[in-house]
Amino acid sequence: MALQFTSTPSTARKAQAEREAVLADPGFGRHFTDHMVLIDWTVEDGWHDARVEPYGPFTVDPASAVLHYGQEIFEGLKAYRREDGSVWTFRPDQNAARMQRSAQRLALPQLPTEDFVESLRRLVEVDEQWVPAGGEDSLYLRPFMIANEVFLGVRAAQTVLFSVIASPAGPYFPAGVKPVSIWLSREYARAGKGGTGAAKCGGNYAASLLPTQEAFANGCAQVLFLDESGDANLEELGGMNVVLVKADGTLVTPRSESILDGITRNSLLELAQDMGHAVEHRPVTLDEWRDGVASGEIVESFACGTAAVITPIVAIKAKDEADAFGDPDAPAGEVTMALRTALTDIQHGRADDAHGWMTQLVEAR
Ligand code: PLP
Ligand code: COI
Repeated sequence: MALQFTSTPSTARKAQAEREAVLADPGFGRHFTDHMVLIDWTVEDGWHDARVEPYGPFTVDPASAVLHYGQEIFEGLKAYRREDGSVWTFRPDQNAARMQRSAQRLALPQLPTEDFVESLRRLVEVDEQWVPAGGEDSLYLRPFMIANEVFLGVRAAQTVLFSVIASPAGPYFPAGVKPVSIWLSREYARAGKGGTGAAKCGGNYAASLLPTQEAFANGCAQVLFLDESGDANLEELGGMNVVLVKADGTLVTPRSESILDGITRNSLLELAQDMGHAVEHRPVTLDEWRDGVASGEIVESFACGTAAVITPIVAIKAKDEADAFGDPDAPAGEVTMALRTALTDIQHGRADDAHGWMTQLVEAR
């Protein structure tokens, strides 16, 4: 049976002027709306006490399992405002399903899809004024789940908290859709066979932070990980999937058990097929990419994900010069930008949603 939500409206909503100043230049992940969703889970009672509360710090006991063993998962999706004032989100059922898969891997309880989507609806309804209007901005929604049982034994927690917070979002990279260079990490892996790479759990991101520091220090926007096979198969970036575009228009993206099954990537591949592109989802080596760029067989590449949308990749930098290729000053590719437009037009309601990907959260004004 679907959860019933209670609601405690904030008595300290941010003033209109403050909110408007944030919405004028939201950046990414720095500002939060006036409310949050919380849902408790225990072994005895399952999911219960679904509620919307004023946004704010919540109490976490220092002995909570999440603080010691990292039993945590999260999701990321966006809410978009249309010209008529209505607010929509993109494929929330896919995020719900992926969160269920992540939960399964991290031994956390699975939140049913209808409760997941309702939690988004409740939060966006109450914080509707925080959804940016016009342009490419959106309200980034961050559902997450933590093991908050107070117990230091190493086993799956019996007490869990699910929450959703929301943050107005402009471009993830400060330079917007400007092409980026990517740092190749041969030294550090993000995930391995049988590990948690396909789950959206905090630990995967923790593992990416040191090589990401290296990437930043070398003027790169993200780190590129390879798999652990020794064959230098491409995996993904710290927070995005990778797609290569061949001269004949074919799109190639790595298939691997240990990368995140990206909803942006999957949607772009479908749109590309609609536009007549062939699509290959298979293991791809770094050599294939580097040699393809040298021979002219690979003409574009891009990073894609909810936060990044699509960002052109124009160069790979690496400790070993022999691994580096591409031109950091090259312009964005045409196929990349056409796919970006096709996707963002659907998300922002400017194009027909032929696949039925959009879910309405708030009615038109
Ligand atoms: N890979 C990683 C490691 C990510 O963090 C993300 C972002 O969520 C993606 C890929 C892209 O996934 P999606 O398109 O579902 O946002
Ligand atoms: C997202 O795109 O939603 C992510 O979680 C990736 C992260 C870089 C913010």
